[in-house]
Amino acid sequence: MIISKIPVLSKIPKAAVDEPVIYLIAPHFDLSQLSMTKPETAYAKSCIDNEDKLISVNSYYKWIYIVVVSEHNDKATLYETMRNQAFELCQQVIKNKFTCVNIVDLYSEEGIAAAFAEGLILSAYKFNKYFGDKEKKEISLTTVHVVSNKLTDMDVEKLNIVCSSVYVARDIVNEPLSHLNAHKLAVTIQEAGKAAGFEVEVFDKQRIEALRMGGLLAVNRGSVDPPSFSIMTYKPANAINEKPYVIVGKGIVFDTGGLSLKPTQGSMDSMKSDKAGAAAAVGILYAIAKAALPLYVIGLVPATDNRPGENAYAPQDIITMYDGTTVEVLNTDAEGRMILADALAYANKYNPELVIDLATLTGAAVVAVGTIAIAAMGNNKEAISELHISGMQTRERIVELPLWEEYGEQIKSDFADIKNVGGRWAGSITAGKFLEHFTNYPWIHLDIAGTAYLDSIDKYRGKAGTGSGVRLLFDFFTRKCAE
Ligand code: BES
Ligand code: ZN
Ligand code: ZN
Repeated sequence: MIISKIPVLSKIPKAAVDEPVIYLIAPHFDLSQLSMTKPETAYAKSCIDNEDKLISVNSYYKWIYIVVVSEHNDKATLYETMRNQAFELCQQVIKNKFTCVNIVDLYSEEGIAAAFAEGLILSAYKFNKYFGDKEKKEISLTTVHVVSNKLTDMDVEKLNIVCSSVYVARDIVNEPLSHLNAHKLAVTIQEAGKAAGFEVEVFDKQRIEALRMGGLLAVNRGSVDPPSFSIMTYKPANAINEKPYVIVGKGIVFDTGGLSLKPTQGSMDSMKSDKAGAAAAVGILYAIAKAALPLYVIGLVPATDNRPGENAYAPQDIITMYDGTTVEVLNTDAEGRMILADALAYANKYNPELVIDLATLTGAAVVAVGTIAIAAMGNNKEAISELHISGMQTRERIVELPLWEEYGEQIKSDFADIKNVGGRWAGSITAGKFLEHFTNYPWIHLDIAGTAYLDSIDKYRGKAGTGSGVRLLFDFFTRKCAE
């Protein structure tokens, strides 16, 4: 599978003398230990006294960078500072067209060099493939060396895996509908399975019809392309869980809103990102399989575009879903919950340990928590609190919204079991209540509408597809293996 060009991290015993070097140091580090001339050392010292955090020294034969690690009580915040400093450094890498850099870890604590390397690699992502002069636009960096006695080979391997999985997810999000319809998404998932080592089965329209996945078929009715339903399976012999973890990702390859066409100017302009949940699900399976985590994991991706074609589903339609529930459609733009409902009901057949769905589900989630947090809901306190820890660690933070019974009133319908919209207020929660109806197992819903796609660059998260959810869940599952 082809993914955007990614720099590779490797551990080396000693930095080469003629390559750019990045020293990670504490503010009071004795600078005379670094291989710099006296004037260079004096210059660096004056910068540190001036509280500069990134110092560039253009030595006569190479570039030297000094990154001052600010002391911080909270480790998670410190790691984030490192990722952000790496983004600043990446601007130097781009400007000077470096192909290789050496990170020399002279800081006393663990995790610092890893966070810095992660931030650097994630900052080097570019989605260039459709430019005529894409070679010219490519980021030159191919190799990141790290010299550290606090980083194991395993840490390095995991970092390469998690970063490439984020790249996979970003690539999927960034592909436009013209190049990635529901069928092509399924093919991409198959390629990812081959590359990482998980099984993929794809249901075509006929099979989806035979299974009576009414929600997915309803949303697909306005489309010229058939829907797809992809099932990813990773089941290693040494799996520590008998019942699988199931990841469900919303795969709306483009969301026009359908007949309830998106009403406000510009609101459709980022809707190729409506498959970011699917992209995250693929990224997570990619990471788990590449890292050979001893976990049995299933990924489910229902996919279609949502558009107002001739036969498009219409407001007031009543749809019979995969599990037999009838749904009154009052807004065809609330399509994500229609396709997810079928996938969530399908997940029941696995008797899952836990189901986590990821979806760019509601504009209301963006209103509530903006682009810096994920709105989380669910019926399993323990999993939510574990996810909360992973969120702090990876800076993919979650905020829990309640699924109190009273909110369920808002999706009661006059004509069917439930309706697909819940009125003006608490839109993320009523969407969550809708999904909850189709679950009867431990379950978490992650609304990534705010975090999945950025209109302007935000440090190492970049611009456009961010790969939201991949690092969060990889951390979550890595911890499961250590329990
Ligand atoms: N894909 C959108 C949600 C979305 C909005 C994602 C903004 C990312 C950024 C979803 O399908 C949608 O249109 N939701 C509607 C639901 C409403 C009609 C009940 C919304 O949030 O407006
Ligand atoms: Zn929509
Ligand atoms: Zn949508």
